Amino acid sequence: MTKIDKIVLSYSGGLDTSIILKWLQETYGCEVVTFTADLGQGEELEPARAKAEMSGVKDIRIVDLREEFVSDFVFPMLRANALYEGQYLLGSSIARPLIAKHLVGIAREVGAHAVAHGATGKGNDQVRFELAVNALDPSIKIIAPWRQWNIRSRTQLLEYAEKHHIPVPSDKRGEAPFSIDANLLHTSTEGKILENPAEVAPDHIYQRTVDPVDAPDTPEIITISFERGDPVSVNGKSMTPTALLTELNGLGGRHGIGRLDLVENRFIGMKSRGIYETPGGTILLAAHRGIESITLDRAAAHLKDEIMPRYAELIYNGFWFAPEREMLQALIDQSQTFVSGEVTLRLYKGSASVVSRTSPCSLYSADLVTFEESAIAYDHHDAEGFIRLNGLRLRSWAARNGR
Ligand code: ARG
Repeated sequence: MTKIDKIVLSYSGGLDTSIILKWLQETYGCEVVTFTADLGQGEELEPARAKAEMSGVKDIRIVDLREEFVSDFVFPMLRANALYEGQYLLGSSIARPLIAKHLVGIAREVGAHAVAHGATGKGNDQVRFELAVNALDPSIKIIAPWRQWNIRSRTQLLEYAEKHHIPVPSDKRGEAPFSIDANLLHTSTEGKILENPAEVAPDHIYQRTVDPVDAPDTPEIITISFERGDPVSVNGKSMTPTALLTELNGLGGRHGIGRLDLVENRFIGMKSRGIYETPGGTILLAAHRGIESITLDRAAAHLKDEIMPRYAELIYNGFWFAPEREMLQALIDQSQTFVSGEVTLRLYKGSASVVSRTSPCSLYSADLVTFEESAIAYDHHDAEGFIRLNGLRLRSWAARNGR
């Protein structure tokens, strides 16, 4: 084993990463710096400081990354209308490269040559963390305790905690808990009963949305303004990206918007089933498509839709900091120059529907499309020739086939 003198650990303060912290200190006998990111997971972060202190950590970093998360990761992704496998808004996937970026930044700052994370050996998150670290600083060594230590079961994990006087909260004593990942964009829940896709998810799984059945019986009308593809205000009130997403999460949660029960294909090879709640993101996707519908040229819009699954898959698979993701991002960003204006939506029992849209950059021409007499020069005879030429090869083809 090459000598490691300092490690920066991505530390949530939860039981698993507390055990990892102890294990790193014992195994490598070196200083461990903890890094706890505030991504709007809605958890108190100060307990993480207290726990790290108790474990003798001298350098404790708790960093508020919410604004960077929404501005530089979530919004750029939403410009693409990104969905993995047609449904997943990538709430966990998009957070990992940001955490990795700061792990690397802190490692450089404190002169550490290794970083560590608490992702298990079966998931996507390990891939995302490590590909991002590779892309940002190939000299940094990555330690993934879940793949290295001999702990193979929940029972062994708890035994290790007991042995090292790591407090185990009473709700963590029994069987393995759900695997939950939360941030400003979503909450994801996996594991336990959800591992059987034939089982209906129990209602208590949901944390930030009401059951649409219990949502208000009166619809709520909201307006979202966009500037160059990004949302900037809700109901006429300008907001920071974080405040805006928080506001929409509240509205969406109340109306039961953004629940998803999905069986997905992990990059690593297996299928997994998860429950996602992405209230604000779901509203923003509908609204963004609404504003794009009047501001994007047809070919531009269709090209975006063609590359979208590819772009989403890159994010899902952990290639945020790869050249091909950056190339696609440049294309997407370029398309957003005129994606400005206002979208009105109706929130009602689990749905966010666009009901109207306006834009100073609109390409929509009522004059052109109208069934009434139009002032714009449009010669109906042109359509005749247009169809005749488009039909030319079809007529040849049909004649050959003997139809
Ligand atoms: N399956 C989702 C994804 O790969 C969610 C992962 C959530 N992570 C977790 N540690 N629970 O993006």
